[in-house]
Amino acid sequence: MKWVYIEDIAAHRGQDVELRGWVYNTRSSGRIRFILVRDGTGILQATIHSESEGDPLYEKFDSLTQETSLVVRGRVREDKRAPGGFELGIREIDILQAAEDYPITPKEHSTPFLMEHRHLWLRSRKPHAVLQVRAEVVKAIRDFFDGRGFRLMDTPILTPSACEGTTTLFETKYFDQTAYLSQSGQLYNEATAAAFGKVYCFGPTFRAEKSKTRRHLIEFWMVEPEVAFAVLDDIIDLGTDLVLFILERVLSQRRSDLEALERDPRPLEAIAKPFARLTYDEIVPRLQAKGSAMARGDDFGAAEDALISELSPGPVCITHFPAAIKAFYMQPAPERPDLALGVDFMAPEGYGEIIGGGQRIHDPGLLEERLREHHLPAEAYAWYLDLRKFGSCPHSGFGLGVERTVSWICGIKHIRETIPFPRLLYRIYP
Ligand code: 4AD
Repeated sequence: MKWVYIEDIAAHRGQDVELRGWVYNTRSSGRIRFILVRDGTGILQATIHSESEGDPLYEKFDSLTQETSLVVRGRVREDKRAPGGFELGIREIDILQAAEDYPITPKEHSTPFLMEHRHLWLRSRKPHAVLQVRAEVVKAIRDFFDGRGFRLMDTPILTPSACEGTTTLFETKYFDQTAYLSQSGQLYNEATAAAFGKVYCFGPTFRAEKSKTRRHLIEFWMVEPEVAFAVLDDIIDLGTDLVLFILERVLSQRRSDLEALERDPRPLEAIAKPFARLTYDEIVPRLQAKGSAMARGDDFGAAEDALISELSPGPVCITHFPAAIKAFYMQPAPERPDLALGVDFMAPEGYGEIIGGGQRIHDPGLLEERLREHHLPAEAYAWYLDLRKFGSCPHSGFGLGVERTVSWICGIKHIRETIPFPRLLYRIYP
């Protein structure tokens, strides 16, 4: 008998097939026994309805416990009453391993308990739906950049220097030297962009963030495009198209997962370009007028994230930050060198920053000055300075955080649920 996956079941209507999976739930109604079988791609109702009381299938059914692994064989039937419109009429059951006392039952559990059992919790409907959306977001990102002629460049994870400030570096021994886990592939991408024109890297990044918030992971995934000769406006357009592409893909491909998460798709469907755009100095007084306690020079916190969402139903792009609060590599605005040509894309509905990026300094003298001001060792950045000596050009890029984006799209308040095994300030298990 052919082994098939539940997601393909409709193509096997009327056929005898084999499913390999786990018991999600069981129930009885008169002589009929129902097993909800989960195989990773979906959940299917399988039924036992035998002519004879003494059918050994009933005895097997009685021994089934939640998450027991099994093989079931039978005929696929269309049935309007079954969830999903199909069910399997069971002929045979092989039990592979009888699970004992599965800790995650249909009752409510606390989040710390579920996080402690994350390796099992992944099997439940909601975490499964979130991670389906995540996989689709990742695929959409790759398709977007590959489809636009960007070259994938894998940047190193072990690095000798900082990209996003020295306070959040993870230090590790590198034989007799010190290395740091990458905070961003950007600096290396500036080199690959000069070799390939338009590039992106996509990988895990690490920040030893001491802040415990709903938005911060210690290890998170970021896609970072970098484009030679592009200026700030060009990458705002690129980021806008990327966000719209991801949304369109998830709304068309993972509708049922958004439903499982009870995520109202309408605010996502309503998003169109252009996104609202304001400078930092325009937005701060507007937030203060709405009651924010932030001062000029502060970063946005959770309260500001929510207030920013009131300004537009779509993402809000904030540009021209005070240079003093931004990274060393940011190009100053032509008429106002105290402002940086950076951009943050703020997600709607209070989900906070999903994209950070901007235009990079291309003048070698200015870059050397900034390295000195930030107390960064010139030797470690010698190769980076070379990029300004051999055919320097304006160039720009950004980073989009996968988990922040998934949080927003799924309507999940805490970022820890958007990655299979989150690394948090107080959690590295499992
Ligand atoms: O704004 P960030 O720090 O920008 C950079 O790292 C640039 N070097 C990127 C570039 O220009 N190539 O981070 C970019 C994005 C944020 O907008 C956010 O989505 C995500 O990365 N991010 C985090 N996500 C989860 N946990 C954290 N601790 C994050 N820090 C940043």
